[in-house]
Parts: sequence; structure tokens; C-alpha cells
Amino acid sequence: MSILNIIKEDLLMAFEQASYGKDNIEVSLSRRPELCDFQCNSALKMAGKYDVSPTTIAQKVADQINENCSDTYVAVAEAPGFINISLTDQWLVQNLNEIAMDSHLGYQHASQPKTIIVDFGGANVAKSLHVGHLRSAVIGESLIRILRFTGNEVLGDIHLGDWGLQIGLVIEMLRLDQPNLIYFEDSVLEAYPDTPPFDIHQLTELYTNANIKSKEDSEFRAKAAEVTAALQYGHRGYSALWKHIMNISVQDLKKNYGALGITFDLWLGESDSQASIPTVLQWLENRKLLQTSNGAKVVFVEEETDNKPMPPCIIQKSNGAVLYGATDLATIYQRMRDYNPDEIIYVVDNRQTLHFEQVFRVAYKSKIVPPSTELNFIGFGTMNGVDGKPFKTRDGGVMSLSDLIHQLVEAASKRLGEQDEQKDNKQIALAVGVGALKFGDLSNLPDRDYVFDLNQFSSFEGKTGPYVQYALVRIASIKKKLIEQGVDLSPITSPTSDTERKLMLKLSMFSAWVDFAKSAYQPSKICDYAFDLSQTFNQFYHEVHILSEKDPLKQSSYHSLLTLTEKVLRQCLWLLGIEGLEKM
Ligand code: ARG
Repeated sequence: MSILNIIKEDLLMAFEQASYGKDNIEVSLSRRPELCDFQCNSALKMAGKYDVSPTTIAQKVADQINENCSDTYVAVAEAPGFINISLTDQWLVQNLNEIAMDSHLGYQHASQPKTIIVDFGGANVAKSLHVGHLRSAVIGESLIRILRFTGNEVLGDIHLGDWGLQIGLVIEMLRLDQPNLIYFEDSVLEAYPDTPPFDIHQLTELYTNANIKSKEDSEFRAKAAEVTAALQYGHRGYSALWKHIMNISVQDLKKNYGALGITFDLWLGESDSQASIPTVLQWLENRKLLQTSNGAKVVFVEEETDNKPMPPCIIQKSNGAVLYGATDLATIYQRMRDYNPDEIIYVVDNRQTLHFEQVFRVAYKSKIVPPSTELNFIGFGTMNGVDGKPFKTRDGGVMSLSDLIHQLVEAASKRLGEQDEQKDNKQIALAVGVGALKFGDLSNLPDRDYVFDLNQFSSFEGKTGPYVQYALVRIASIKKKLIEQGVDLSPITSPTSDTERKLMLKLSMFSAWVDFAKSAYQPSKICDYAFDLSQTFNQFYHEVHILSEKDPLKQSSYHSLLTLTEKVLRQCLWLLGIEGLEKM
């Protein structure tokens, strides 16, 4: 259990014994660490209810705590009603030694693991990955790791944008380019070629050109819509092309996401949900939820408590085409059928907030999703350039992800002072560059816009990925020297300096911070903690002479303390999807 929860329980008991029970007791890290480790302000809030002064309550509870748990805490009441709590060194050390022995670093799993599906990535096929796809991938990957670490069954689904007009546009563009391809011939009976008629670059070019053309050429656009419809009805040649588009895109996506250390358990997409659309339409029809509005089939989702306009969720257009909402509902239907999850989390751009509100309402209203299953939308803000506008390439274009990764690696190499081309160094530069990017992104609250500043992110100073990675490298190097000196690992002993105690206290808070991150869906909490821990460690490293310590017991306790710090920091980086390095 996290130390914060243990204190909370002990406090709750003390409040009850002092006859102030049944209230919500809050305890937090002390704002004045020179005075105490934790503080509880609940006496202030409940004074009115009991008609006594808050100081009296605080004093009674503090006395009770000291009586109950004298080995564990020292509690002091302070006017006008604070309860200041410090851990005894004895208990702090005991707690750390337990954490050090535990494969989960003292984190206690939820007794009831949940089945959770995380819908993230959301890349569209036929189009190279660009920075717009970055945040979903980086945040989603970290959330998945946090949810898994805390004991849940989690499945990440990329939910590819692999259906609809974009495919028709590409196919029609290809026809204009190469009209004689076999895919465009009528009544072909033999099998279509296995080799695709384009590579990823040509495919991206087709997509770009098709998009430009569709904006200025309405005939082209209409034709593309026809192609899309024909594809949906199973046109053989188009289906064969669609498969080529999928293969090439997925291969490219796997490569790019792979370079970022991002993986998906399910590579499903919008196309996979199409099979369930008729079922969902029928389902809505049976429950009398489908209404006709301007020729389209919609579900009204307005509620009395709404304080903003809530347009109906459009399911099917008058021409029969099904829309984004229908695709998402069919996907939810399949997820419930195949995995029966307790929760589905969507990590998608903020600009889709309304869409998901509508879809969630339809899902609950129609009982496709039972009330016991949570649907959560984690919307993220825009990644801006240093000019404060959405991040672009220097000539104003959309930056591809592979170009961005390239820039990150270059910036990292420069910082690392490495010009040579050794494989090892390249790998290190990739890990540092990607670490800089992820930490820079994740240290912001997901829903905020933030400025992507390559220079600042890749710095070894300040709250950055490389700063935390470097703390780890520093620990590894001292540990190596300790091992060379023959210093072994023994239980951690009581702190002998303020900085050592501070480091110990930070380490004991690991589980609490994981809980903060999990319950708020905020990887930024892990960034905050990892940075704070790295700083505290660096202070310890500068002030305490670890390698020249004369007392052998103390020195091997230091060795164990460093080992634990290393494990905790490495675990934090893992939770963020960042590689912890041995050398830099
Ligand atoms: N492909 C979509 C886009 O690029 C994002 C998909 C988000 N997930 C979902 N289930 N709708 O906008």
C-alpha cells in the first residue's frame, strides 16, 4: 500500500478513537518539509460540525496517533488546527527495505484487476505518420504502462483510419496516373498481383495530390466517392488495391511507431468495424432511437442538464453512407462482444470532444454499453512550435514523424558530443532524443497545448528527459565503482544527513505518485516525481561522499540506497515509455 494510504488509515483510526469519525480524512505531502513530512488539515474542516476548536481536534488526534503508532510517526498539532506528521527514521528505513525487496517496488495491485482497452494512435493509412499523431501515441503508451503496472489487463488498439473517402481518393488518383493497371480493368478473373503498384513514398504522394485535387476538382471528388462506395460493396480490383495500401502503410507505421518504442496489441481499424454496422443500425432501430432529420438517420442525445448545444449524433447520411459516429459505435459494439471491458479509454485530439460525447451518450442510451463500463475520453491539446502556432516544418509543411525523429537524434548527438557513427552511440542518441521528446510532451497535462522546443527538451539541465536519464547513468557509474571496491549490498540503515533522509522520503513516495498518475490519467505526475527524485539524488551525490565513506556498514547501506534509487527511476522512465540507459 502507498505510504500516503497507510498514513490515511492510521489517521482515520485516530480520528475515530478521538470520537471524530466518519469524515473524509485528507493527508498530503508537507508544504514545509523542514517542519514535517506530511500534513493533515482535516481538523480545520470538521470543527464546525463538532462545535469545538480545530486546535482541540488536532491536539486530540495527534495525541492518539502518538499513542497508537509511536514507532511509526511523530505527530504534532499546530494552530489553527494542522496535524503535522513525520515518519520515524526507524519506520522509514523499514519501509524502504521492504520496497527494495519487492518486485513491484512496494506498489500493491488493485484487488480487482480491470480489463481496459485503450484506443490510441489513430493513424490514417495511405498517409505517412506526422507530428499530429505523436501526442496520442506518446500519451497512450504511457497510460497503458501505468495501467498495467497498477495491475490491470490492458489492450492497446491503434484503431486505424483505414476506411472511407481517403481510400477512394487515392485509388482514383492512381487511376489518373496509371489507367492501364489491371485493377481498373473490368471482369478480371485471375488473381491480382502480389506486388503493390507503389511504395510508401509514391503512396504518400498519391494521397497528397489527391487531397489537393479534390479541393479544386468537384468531378474528381465525386468520382472518388463513387470508388469508395464501390469498394464498400466489395469491388474486386479496388479491394485488392486497398489490401496493398494497408500492407504498405501498416509496415511503415510499425517502423515509425517502433522507433518511438510504441506498440499496439490490436491493429484493428475502422474497416474492421464495418461488418457490425448493420447490427448496430438494427439495434438502434429496435430501441426506437433512430430518427430521421433532414433525410439523415440520427440519434438525439440532448439532455436536460446540458448547458451547451448538443447536436444529434448523425449515424447515416441520406445517401446511405455511414459516418464516423456509426463506425465508432460499431467498434464499441465489437469491443464489448469480444473483450467485455470494464473501461475503454480514448486518447484523441481535443477537437473531437463533441464527437465522443455524442458517441458515448448513444452507447449508454442504447445499452450497447452497460452502466458498469466506463467510457473515458482523454483529449489532448496541440503541439505548437516555438512561434506558438501548430508545429510545422521550416517551409510551413506538416512535419513527418521520421523527419522529426531524425532531428531529435541529431540534437541528442550534438549534446552528447558524439560525431562518430558507432552503432552504440546512434542507439544512445536515439534513446536520448526520443526520451527528450516524450518527457517534454508528457510533463504537460494532456489537455493543454504546449510548445515543442527541441533545444530546451534535449538539454541536460532542467526538467527534461535527458536530465533524468543522466541521473540514472550517474548512479550506474558510482555503483560500478562501489562494486569494484568490493562494497556489497546490505539493508539500508538510518539516515545520517538531511539529504540522505530527503532521498529516502522521496523513494518511499513512489507508490503514492503512481496512484496520483493512475487516478488522474496523468503521466505528468510521473514526470514530476522522476524529476524531483533525480534532483534529490543529485543533491545527495554532491553532498555525501559515498565512495570514500569509512564505515563499511554505512557504505553498503549507501550502495543499497543507490540501487533502490536506480530501480525506482528506471521504473518511472519505463512508465513514461522512456529508455533508461547505462551510459550516455
Ligand atoms: N483516425 C482518426 C483521426 O485521425 C482518429 C481516431 C480516433 N479514434 C477513434 N476511435 N475515433 O482523426
